[in-house]
Amino acid sequence: MLPIHEYQEHFLQYLENQKINKEPKNLYEPIDYILGLGGKRMRPVLTLMAAEVFDADYTKALPAATAVEVFHNFSLVHDDIMDDAPLRRGQQTVHEKWNLNAGILSGDAMLILAYQYFEKYEPAVFRDLAKLFSKTAIEVCEGQQWDVDFETRTDVTIPEYLKMIEYKTAVLVAAAMKMGAIIADTSKENADLIYNFGLNLGIAFQLQDDYLDAFGDPETFGKQVGGDIIENKKTYLYLKALEFSTPEKALELEQLFSLQLDENAEKIETAKTIFNESGASKATQEAIESYTFKAFETLEKMDIDFSKKEVLKAFGENLMGRKV
Ligand code: IPE
Ligand code: IPE
Ligand code: MG
Ligand code: MG
Ligand code: MG
Repeated sequence: MLPIHEYQEHFLQYLENQKINKEPKNLYEPIDYILGLGGKRMRPVLTLMAAEVFDADYTKALPAATAVEVFHNFSLVHDDIMDDAPLRRGQQTVHEKWNLNAGILSGDAMLILAYQYFEKYEPAVFRDLAKLFSKTAIEVCEGQQWDVDFETRTDVTIPEYLKMIEYKTAVLVAAAMKMGAIIADTSKENADLIYNFGLNLGIAFQLQDDYLDAFGDPETFGKQVGGDIIENKKTYLYLKALEFSTPEKALELEQLFSLQLDENAEKIETAKTIFNESGASKATQEAIESYTFKAFETLEKMDIDFSKKEVLKAFGENLMGRKV
C-alpha cells in the first residue's frame, strides 16, 4: 500500500482531468467550483485504500472514488441550502455565490454525474456498485430529512440522533470503503467487515463534525462556527447537555433552541457554555473515541495482513485529531 497522502494526490490528479467545460455555464460552473474548493477528500481516499487492502490496484477504483466524491459534493450543495449555510471550505456556498436555483440544479446534475462513473465498470461490478450506491443515497436523504425534522422537535432521543447521523453521514463512508472491496472482488465477509469499519468511523466523524461546528477555530474551520446552534440542530452536544443539566439549565437550553434567530453571538456563547459546563463536550469527545475504537475492533476480524490494518488504524487516528 501507498502512504495515505499519495492516494490523495493520485485522486486529485484524476479529478483534475474531469473538469467540465460545457454550457450552460450556470449549470457547470458551480460544479467545477465546489469540486475545486478542496476538502479533505476522505471518502475517495478510503475507496482507493479499501481496494488496495483487498489486493486490487488503486487505479481500478478511481472512477468509483470519483463517484463517491461527486455525490458527497452534491449532498453538500443541497445541505448548505437546507442549513442556510454561508460558508463552505472557507468560501461562499454555491447558493450564496450564484442563487438557490443554481444550487438545486447543479446539485441534481452532480448526482447523475456520480452515477455515470459506474458505467466504467463491467456489468457485474457495475450492478453491485450501483445497487450499493442507490441504497446509500436514499439513506442519506432519509438521514437529512430526520436532521431537518429534529430542528423543530423537542423530544429527540440519543438513539434517534445516532440513527440520523448513521444515515446522513456514516453510510456513505461505509459504502465508499465497500466499493473498494467490490472492485477488488474480495469475500463477502471482508466486504461486510470493511463496511462496518467505515460505518463506525463515519459515526465518529459526524460526532466530531458536530463538536467542531461549535468549538472549531473560525480561522481554519472553513464553515460558519455555531451554525448548528443557529439552526437549532439537535446534536449529541445538545442532547447530552439536556441530560446532564439541572432542570433549570435544561429549560434554559430548550428555550434557547426554540428561538429562530439569525447569527446571534449571545445565543451561540450561552449554548457553548452550557455544553462545556454540563459535561456534554467531554461526553462527545468520549463518544468519538468509543466509535473509533469500535471501528478498530472490526479490523481485528478481517482477513488481511497486519500492516494493512495498521494503515487503516492510522487513518482513523488521524481523523480523531482533525480540526477541519
Ligand atoms: C462534511 O464532510 C459533511 C459531513 C458529512 C460532516 P467533510 O468534512 O468530509 O467535508 P470536506 O469534503 O472535507 O469539505
Ligand atoms: C451533512 O451534515 C451531512 C450531509 C451533507 C449529507 P452537516 O450539515 O453537519 O454537514 P456540514 O457541517 O454542513 O458539513
Ligand atoms: Mg450543513
Ligand atoms: Mg446538515
Ligand atoms: Mg456539521
